[in-house]
Amino acid sequence: MTRTAYNDCIAIIVGAAMASLTVRNIGEDVKKRLRIRAARHGRSMEEEIRHILASTDSAVPAAHSRAEQDDSRQGQPGAPITGDHAPNAVSRAVGQGTSLAVSHILLVIGGGIAAYKSLDLIRRLKERGAALRVVVSKAAQEFVTPLSIGALAGERAFTDLFDTASEFDVGHIRLARDCDLVIVAPATADLMAKMAHGLADDLASAVLLATDKPILIAPAMNPAMWAHPATVRNLAHLVADGVAVIGPNAGEMAEAGESGFGRMAEPLEIADAAQLLLIHRNKDLPLAGKRVLVTSGPTHEPIDPVRYIANRSSGKQGHAIARAAADAGADVTLVSGPVTLPDPPGVKTIKIESARDMLSEVEQALPVDIAVFAAAVADWRVAEAGAQKIKKDAKGAPRLSLLENPDILATIAHRKTKRPRLVIGFAAETERVIEHAKAKLARKGCDWILANDVSAQSGVMGGDRNIIHVVTAKGVESWPSQTKDDAARMLVERIAAALGTDAL
Ligand code: C5P
Repeated sequence: MTRTAYNDCIAIIVGAAMASLTVRNIGEDVKKRLRIRAARHGRSMEEEIRHILASTDSAVPAAHSRAEQDDSRQGQPGAPITGDHAPNAVSRAVGQGTSLAVSHILLVIGGGIAAYKSLDLIRRLKERGAALRVVVSKAAQEFVTPLSIGALAGERAFTDLFDTASEFDVGHIRLARDCDLVIVAPATADLMAKMAHGLADDLASAVLLATDKPILIAPAMNPAMWAHPATVRNLAHLVADGVAVIGPNAGEMAEAGESGFGRMAEPLEIADAAQLLLIHRNKDLPLAGKRVLVTSGPTHEPIDPVRYIANRSSGKQGHAIARAAADAGADVTLVSGPVTLPDPPGVKTIKIESARDMLSEVEQALPVDIAVFAAAVADWRVAEAGAQKIKKDAKGAPRLSLLENPDILATIAHRKTKRPRLVIGFAAETERVIEHAKAKLARKGCDWILANDVSAQSGVMGGDRNIIHVVTAKGVESWPSQTKDDAARMLVERIAAALGTDAL
């Protein structure tokens, strides 16, 4: 028998030879703390216990009890996040782009064919570190079994309003309140109607009526049901009540030959949306309450209806910055030229084609605290774009008369009113990178220039990695080669740090 750091809470672990572990007489509170700890570390409860055992042999007692304190508080909804997950430690929080660690999520599975996707959703939420409880409606049990859900969730699924197996009857009020977020996936037309009208005749609907936590629904139903005026009314009710909605997507239905809007959003999309909802409620995040504007992608300047002038740009770096800023709690507007990337979740994305349209959207988005101009704006546009396709004929190639486009970065950086507190531009250079960037900083009037080498041998253009040199009035900071996502997180870290000082 081995006594553990938890043994003040009567946890007794038998069989420390570790072929297998049996845990007896373990209190509910300890069990809960263990479960949360295990979820956070991506371990099974058994692995977590082994880990604790290994560490108790060598740990300094004072340090250990501090860690335990942090862990126990993290188990409580709304408790401040501390220790390894302290969001006020800017670098750590920003680094957790795909984490739901220390979040408690209640998943309500409604009765539709899409319920099978909820099994994958459970896995996606758990792999991001969420602690999960699952309620399976009666109708959902026709599609997925509580047994398989329980196995994936690591905890018995809840099915009945009045559970005679009292050991598990935590009651619908506790289920509804002991979480940070409720996800309803799939949200069937019936469940949405019940929610909109406050019905509570089974566990799923009772929990949804009793909860005071944010709710995210992922509707899934036949397109005709989705388009029905009753569903449209119910949806409007729910949105007015503050319920967040993800999807549905368009596509093939389970019913042969039917297609349209009604497919449940993909599990990854739902997990992303859940994460963003939680992020935006977390006032401790480094950019919470800040408004960020990002431009991204190329602009297309029409020559005629089928031809255009453009710079090469995938939009990867700009989109990554928008997402990293949203992950850090900012309210983000992304003004993007034509790209093949998906819109970053939780970001208000405005799509434009030309530089002049980009400028107009950027100006409309003001005031903002921070503006990052990552777009590869075309320098010139055709003075008079053809209304019809220009024909190839005997006169040879047409002569194009070009006009200079507005410089969006310089225009915003030189504004007398509504100038963002921090204006950041990019300099894509193929030679003498730093020298050109310094000149650009002065010319454009911005606060920072992120210079990168886009010469053919650098592989930056269109690739997934970037080497950035941050040029400011104070000097140059060169970052290592890293992914564009990591570079985006690093930038957000620097922005948060700069806003926290009087340097700006
Ligand atoms: O002058 P250059 O195109 O090298 O400047 C690059 C920086 O200026 C980038 O931040 C880019 O987004 C911005 N820019 C702009 N409007 C333009 C040209 C560049 O905002 N017309």
